[in-house]
Amino acid sequence: MSKSKVTVVGAGNVGGTTAQRLAERNYADVVLVDIIEGLPQGKALDILESGPVLGFDSNVVGTNGYEETAGSDVVVITSGSPRKPGMSRDDLLKTNQNIVRSVTEEVVKHSPDTILVVVANPLDAMCHVAMETSGFPRERVVGMAGILDTARYRTFIAQELKTSVRDVFALVLGGHGDTMVPLPSMATVGGVSITELLPQDRVEAIVERTRKGGGEIVSLLQSGSAFYAPSAAAAEMVDSILLDQKRILPCAAYLQGEYGINDLFVGVPVKLGASGVEEIVELDLEESELDDLKNSAGAVRELVEVLHA
Ligand SMILES: NC(=O)c1ccc[n+]([C@@H]2O[C@H](COP(=O)([O-])OP(=O)(O)OC[C@H]3O[C@@H](n4cnc5c(N)ncnc54)[C@H](O)[C@@H]3O)[C@@H](O)[C@H]2O)c1
Repeated sequence: MSKSKVTVVGAGNVGGTTAQRLAERNYADVVLVDIIEGLPQGKALDILESGPVLGFDSNVVGTNGYEETAGSDVVVITSGSPRKPGMSRDDLLKTNQNIVRSVTEEVVKHSPDTILVVVANPLDAMCHVAMETSGFPRERVVGMAGILDTARYRTFIAQELKTSVRDVFALVLGGHGDTMVPLPSMATVGGVSITELLPQDRVEAIVERTRKGGGEIVSLLQSGSAFYAPSAAAAEMVDSILLDQKRILPCAAYLQGEYGINDLFVGVPVKLGASGVEEIVELDLEESELDDLKNSAGAVRELVEVLHA
């Protein structure tokens, strides 16, 4: 049986690390694409040469074109600029809109049946660009953010309670920005709600730190943004799709009435399997949480309106 094929577009920090994680899993061949000459080729060869030591035999190829990407089962889109000094959020939106649009056009030409996993920011808006450009049904366009935001939330809860992260279950919904919605009502440690385990001010502090989790890393690194946890999250989504695991994971999905939200990509729990987004899970949220989710959706809608302006 031949291996599945995954393309990762953007060979920067997130793309390079995602390609590495996927190659090491050994169930898919990986194609790494970037516009910078030599960068994807060099990283791909370097990853490939780790195979004899680590014991994987996935093929890893780097390229500046799309011929090699033909017939990909999943394409992860990480190509996009991070914000630079003096750039407004809208400037970044337009820059990355152009990048994600041109990349999606090329990807779809060579892999018309693929599933797109969008990573470039601003995440929810870039999902719109990918869906509109590809013309794909909503099942085949999904955004990575919720797993990362939830991983941060789980990390902070575990640190606070001095427990293993493995026993912390939690969820962050909403757009991938300051309005994201870490849900205290859904966060449990060994089955016990964090609202029972922690005083309210500690829960609030953890929620706030989660919302600003990306910024915390940016200010530590000084140049560039997080990529170890983001690439782990992207790889988990690819696992669930290509291995048809049917995991329920928080991802940006195109809502059509779920949670009272229409025609918008927002982070919600979805079932990810071989067909992509196989189900959108509607949780019974507390009223204030639903209000927060709708508020977050409003922030996404504002950005999408700028895209279409
Ligand atoms: N969704 C999330 O949770 C999340 C998390 C982390 C990063 N991000 C976003 O992911 C993106 C990548 O982050 P990074 O840290 O890897 O950035 P990076 O600057 O290290 O890498 C981006 C790469 O994209 C490439 N690129 C630009 N235009 C391209 C094009 N048209 N075709 C192919 N490649 C192109 C660049 O040459 C660069 O190598 C950013 O937009 C970042 O904000 C999202």
